[in-house]
Amino acid sequence: MKEIAEKKHAFGMIGLGTMGRNLLLNMADNGFNVTGYDKSPQQVELLNKEGVKTGTVGIMEIEDFVQSLKVPRAIMMLVPAGKIVDAVIQELLPLLDEGDLIIDGGNSHYTDTDKRFIELQKMNIHFFGMGISGGEKGARFGPSMMPGGDKKAYQVMKPILEAVSAKVNGEPCVTYIGPGASGHFVKMVHNGIEYALMQMIAEAYELMKVGLNMPDEEIGNEFKKWNNGKLQSYLLEITEQIFFLKEDGDKDVLLNYIKDEAKAKGTGKWTSQVSMDLQSVTTCIDAAVAMRDLSKQKDLRLAVDKVYSDATSIDIDKAEVLKDLEDAAAFTMKIIYTQGMELMQKASQEMNYDLNLADCAKIWRGGCIIRASFLEEIYTAYKNKPDLDNLLLDKKVSKQIKITVNAARSIIIAAVKAGIGTAVFSSALSYFDNLKSGRMPSNLIQAQRDYFGAHTYERTDKEGIFHTIWQINAKP
Ligand code: 6PG
Repeated sequence: MKEIAEKKHAFGMIGLGTMGRNLLLNMADNGFNVTGYDKSPQQVELLNKEGVKTGTVGIMEIEDFVQSLKVPRAIMMLVPAGKIVDAVIQELLPLLDEGDLIIDGGNSHYTDTDKRFIELQKMNIHFFGMGISGGEKGARFGPSMMPGGDKKAYQVMKPILEAVSAKVNGEPCVTYIGPGASGHFVKMVHNGIEYALMQMIAEAYELMKVGLNMPDEEIGNEFKKWNNGKLQSYLLEITEQIFFLKEDGDKDVLLNYIKDEAKAKGTGKWTSQVSMDLQSVTTCIDAAVAMRDLSKQKDLRLAVDKVYSDATSIDIDKAEVLKDLEDAAAFTMKIIYTQGMELMQKASQEMNYDLNLADCAKIWRGGCIIRASFLEEIYTAYKNKPDLDNLLLDKKVSKQIKITVNAARSIIIAAVKAGIGTAVFSSALSYFDNLKSGRMPSNLIQAQRDYFGAHTYERTDKEGIFHTIWQINAKP
């Protein structure tokens, strides 16, 4: 025990599950003297086994763990979001000194992070909410990280975080995001974008499978082709591989044995909730969340399926549909990122996060789940014009949008005719069509509100607030 205490580790991890253990091993690989603690002896054992090469040893007692760290201490928690985070903080507090730093690396709700930040600040304990993306492999070999909190405290962690993060063109996929809970907020939006991209790919799969009757292998190859072109992204890279995995003894690829009910831990829903609170428009994320929920209503879907006829094939030349589908996906992907960036911009203004959108795009270019070649363009767009009102106003982006929008129209028409749902594709196009419309039919909504509820309206021809007695004045 004494021996451990004397080591004075530079960094400590609480929670040695898949993410915590792998991130710690990544740090050790990069030459940092680190240690970990977990309530479960099995997890500590696992770290001891995997950490042999680097001499990374886990500690079973929290007091010994805290004592073994250099002061001011830097401790990261990678434990499930929610009550457990608070429980760990409470357990730690009596053992810490002023000036120590706690980092929450899980997917905590940003409002929880806000509360924790304020509480810990009162005790002179620095607190960071840090989104980490990239899953198991990312944690082990280079994730994208989104730390938010006290800027001075970030300087302490900067060398370790930069060393272990993914790199793109030699630049680390981590940067100081902003004050308070901004790191967790940005990670939440990352996940919202992730939900929408995943749903979009799933809709393309359905169009190919049902609409074009394509076998799995061919669908996999099509996604492979997309990934080699303008849609290059991590999600397509893994999707392509999914279409080829067959387990020993199985007749079919594994994908076809998986239940069509998508689970979720909530980050996509949180994104939509806060987006509505901020009156930001993230229809693609909203649709993706709704489709996961609908997928879970399996019994109801089967009952309705019995009443209504099935989807039919698309009656258009296959090569033409596939070409349009790739372009439609490129169009939709751009709208998805556009909505995510706009939400971050709104949140930055409302919550004083002072986000640097170029930096957010920059650190998403590598390591994270939504990494894609398009992020390079987003990065450039915001670097050139940090106060860009909407990504679709960027010259390069708008050029590509104009080239691909008609393909999106064709695909949605074909899908509608064949009875195949395209919630995200359609939401993207609808958003675009309304956004590019100098006028919307919302004058009618205002008239209706005033008719039934005297909610008043404003006029185009004169200043002021107006109300009309519609029943008496209207003559059908
Ligand atoms: C990441 C992921 C990760 C998230 C999973 C699962 O960036 O590494 O976003 O943080 O936990 O994607 O999320 P759902 O269970 O909600 O699909």
